[in-house]
Amino acid sequence: MMNGRRGHVMKKARFHVDSRLPTLLSQEYSSTERAIKELVDNAWDADAVTVRIDLPKPMTTESIVVSDDGTGMTEVELRRHYLSIATDRRTRRGDLTAVKKRKVKGRKGIGKFAGLMAAAEMYVKSSARGKCCSFTLNLEDLSAVDDIEKLDLSLQVDDCAPQVQGTVVALNRLHQGLSFPHPDKLRQILLEDYGREEGFVIYVDGKELGVDDVRGTFNEIKEDVGGVGQVALKFAISNQKKALRAPGIAVRVEGKVVGKPSFFGLDKSDDFPPKLLKKLFGEVEADGLFPHVTAGWDSLVENSELMLELEKYVQPILRKAFKKQYGREVQLAHARLQKKIQDRLASLPEYKRAYADRAIRRILDRYYDEPESKVEPLVFVLMEALERSDYRTLLEHIADSPRRDIASLVDSLSDFSLADMAFLGEQARARVSFLDYLERLCRDDDTLEVAVHKSIEKALWLFGPEYSLFSSNETLKRQTEEYLGKKFSGDRASNRPDLLLNEDLNSRLLLIEFKRPNHSLTLYDYQQATTYRHDFSRYTDQEIQVLLLGGKFGADLPKPHLREPHVRIMLFPQVISSARKQLDWLIKQLGWNQSNTGEMI
Ligand SMILES: Nc1ncnc2c1ncn2[C@@H]1O[C@H](COP(=O)(O)OP(=O)(O)OP(=O)(O)O)[C@@H](O)[C@H]1O
Ligand SMILES: [Mg+2]
Repeated sequence: MMNGRRGHVMKKARFHVDSRLPTLLSQEYSSTERAIKELVDNAWDADAVTVRIDLPKPMTTESIVVSDDGTGMTEVELRRHYLSIATDRRTRRGDLTAVKKRKVKGRKGIGKFAGLMAAAEMYVKSSARGKCCSFTLNLEDLSAVDDIEKLDLSLQVDDCAPQVQGTVVALNRLHQGLSFPHPDKLRQILLEDYGREEGFVIYVDGKELGVDDVRGTFNEIKEDVGGVGQVALKFAISNQKKALRAPGIAVRVEGKVVGKPSFFGLDKSDDFPPKLLKKLFGEVEADGLFPHVTAGWDSLVENSELMLELEKYVQPILRKAFKKQYGREVQLAHARLQKKIQDRLASLPEYKRAYADRAIRRILDRYYDEPESKVEPLVFVLMEALERSDYRTLLEHIADSPRRDIASLVDSLSDFSLADMAFLGEQARARVSFLDYLERLCRDDDTLEVAVHKSIEKALWLFGPEYSLFSSNETLKRQTEEYLGKKFSGDRASNRPDLLLNEDLNSRLLLIEFKRPNHSLTLYDYQQATTYRHDFSRYTDQEIQVLLLGGKFGADLPKPHLREPHVRIMLFPQVISSARKQLDWLIKQLGWNQSNTGEMI
């Protein structure tokens, strides 16, 4: 079909169908943003230098437009490559692009349709070698034919200036039910694949994709660094759980990136959690490094003192930024926890200590961004497991493996880890059942202090990991008995309180007074408990903590700031629910880890 104007031609085109089509089209793209990325991938494969993506403003009926300055397609190419579905491009045209020798992304020959998941109509215009071809494809027409092969498309061919080159895809009539394409989300997705590409610039709504698009905090500093000269550093620290694809700081000299992204020594320091490295994304321009760039631009000369200078400048900046963002968890919390761990490790026999230390380090490392309250139970339960020597066989097995036989040593270690995990899981689940039982007991109005005392006395983990370090011994029991016997004899015997005296590794004492689970705590209870402490303190110089347990807070209990030091008042329901939360978390973590045991511990 031709119309009268010169150089303006309308023709019919058909999709050529490959037999793999049915399986391929059934595949879906998970979001509009992912679908847009397919179009960017196509621009990449077409050796484009610039891609512009314009998203509709919210609440409008505007289109999504993706335009590139790639090779474009002539009519023949359009028919042969675009309008044929489901043929593997690489078997036809190789793994690398023609001009820029990029690694080709396309494989299935269906990516161009991705946009149709979000739009009812797709308009394509491609220009190459003085011709410009365009057509519109819409969902209604597609669904009207039973075989996509039968679809007639009107292809419009116009003349254009020979230097005009590239492809524009517009997705019109977006499905209203779908969530609007989100520029930030799109940027994240594009960043993963294209954040580090040279000579490929993507604009989303007019703004160039860059370091500052990493979700998290962004920093930019320009300074004169002795020896190196002008340095422009920009980096972002991601606040997302997911690790970045190509983390680190790219070093750019005279506009070109040299070698792989660097961590400026952070990757080699013991006191920096390796996991955090995966959150760093940035770029530093330092033309002064030029004399130390190797001929192939693939690295800097070894031990370059200019690079060392730069490292001296950059590393503290990075540390500071990380500390600001993750510091509370990384440094403070874990330092305090480490201290507790050290104390406890010291009491383990030597042969266990090494393994405990290693296992704990891995946990700390893995959960660096979790608050201490979550990491602590995990670590302490592990400690407990180690202290109980359930691992003897395994440890002996490890000790037996021939020194040089690394492979078998590795196997033993991984056996050990599995046993560890299994044991942790078992223990956590058992503790949950224990909580169920205790909860029932506490709900019963007839439950007396002596019953809760008996149930809890060997389960102090209930009050939090720090309490699981306390345990009773014969001397302490006798002392308590003697004291109570003396003080509550004769007709006072019926007032005899239920006390438990425990001691921890640091010789601190813990005095627990149990009240009935339905008892509302009063000022009098508080005074009694502190009096008992006072009385006990006559026998010892050790610090004594007081824990008063009951069912409810009475109105006249002194406010926290009016209490004596080291007195805690806790309620059964609270204690149970917070213990349950910690266990649930632990079980969830372990469950998740079961499929990843290779990585764990
Ligand atoms: N923007 C573009 N510029 C130039 N040619 C393009 C463009 N988009 C698509 N093409 C051509 O159309 C072909 C089909 O694209 P399509 O995205 O459907 O498949 P693909 O990229 O080969 O594989 P995949 O389905 O994995 O994306 C491409 O191989 C390419 O030759
Ligand atoms: Mg493609």
